[in-house]
Amino acid sequence: MSAAPIGIFDSGVGGLSVLRALRALLPAESLVYVADQGHVPYGARPMAEIQAFSEAITRFLLEQDAKLIVVACNTASAAALHFLRQTFAGVPFVGMEPALKPAAEQTESGVVGVLATPATFQGALYASVLERFAGGVQVLQDTCPGLVAQIEAGDLQGAETRRILHSALAPMLAQGADTVVMGCTHYPFVIPLIREIGGEGLRVIDPAPAVARQVRRVLMERGLLAGGEKKAGVRYYTSGSVQAFDLRLSALLGEGGSSLPLAWDGLRLV
Ligand code: DGL
Repeated sequence: MSAAPIGIFDSGVGGLSVLRALRALLPAESLVYVADQGHVPYGARPMAEIQAFSEAITRFLLEQDAKLIVVACNTASAAALHFLRQTFAGVPFVGMEPALKPAAEQTESGVVGVLATPATFQGALYASVLERFAGGVQVLQDTCPGLVAQIEAGDLQGAETRRILHSALAPMLAQGADTVVMGCTHYPFVIPLIREIGGEGLRVIDPAPAVARQVRRVLMERGLLAGGEKKAGVRYYTSGSVQAFDLRLSALLGEGGSSLPLAWDGLRLV
């Protein structure tokens, strides 16, 4: 057993969609969440930058005694997960990958859409996912330019968010897509709007519950699960505005948490 926290990070509020699933599945696990909003969005950044940010955030989380690190960011997983596992040998990491496997299994039309960021699509991880799971289905992709910034700004239903999603989804629907994958952890927060645009028949896949189950598997394998039933706490940190983060936390998770500030000192988080 281990009462040590699970560390989770994302470029911003996106990882809260994974934290939500973790809290539901493993309420006794205490969590430490880092939103690197001082650098969001990551999606168009060079791989080396994302690796440097991810390394520093991991160091910070390990200083908080994290027993496992969840890279709750498809972009950081694509750019840095392999690098982090090499740099921090022995530390258990759970990352994200676009959920093409369930999408390919569930589609009836044989046409699947993936919404992610440019860095996720460019990474070797995505190429490997395509090779492993996309056999026999047509995969359509869109980077939804500006959507992460809209969600970071708290606009989940406005005209601009609707325009970005319509621009991504309309061509996919026209080509017969009946399943769409949330390949960015920010995007589950606009699933209601995606359903409005795509219709109730559109299958939307959010990988967060599967990621939470993987975290449970890894903790069980290593004997690191927290004991007891009592709901544990969460500490939130942001390298951006704590006031803005707290507003998003309330809007997205209905939680009244109060986040703590982090600052970048070169490539160290303090
Ligand atoms: N939410 C992250 C992802 O899953 C990053 C989005 C971004 O910062 O561009 O890719």
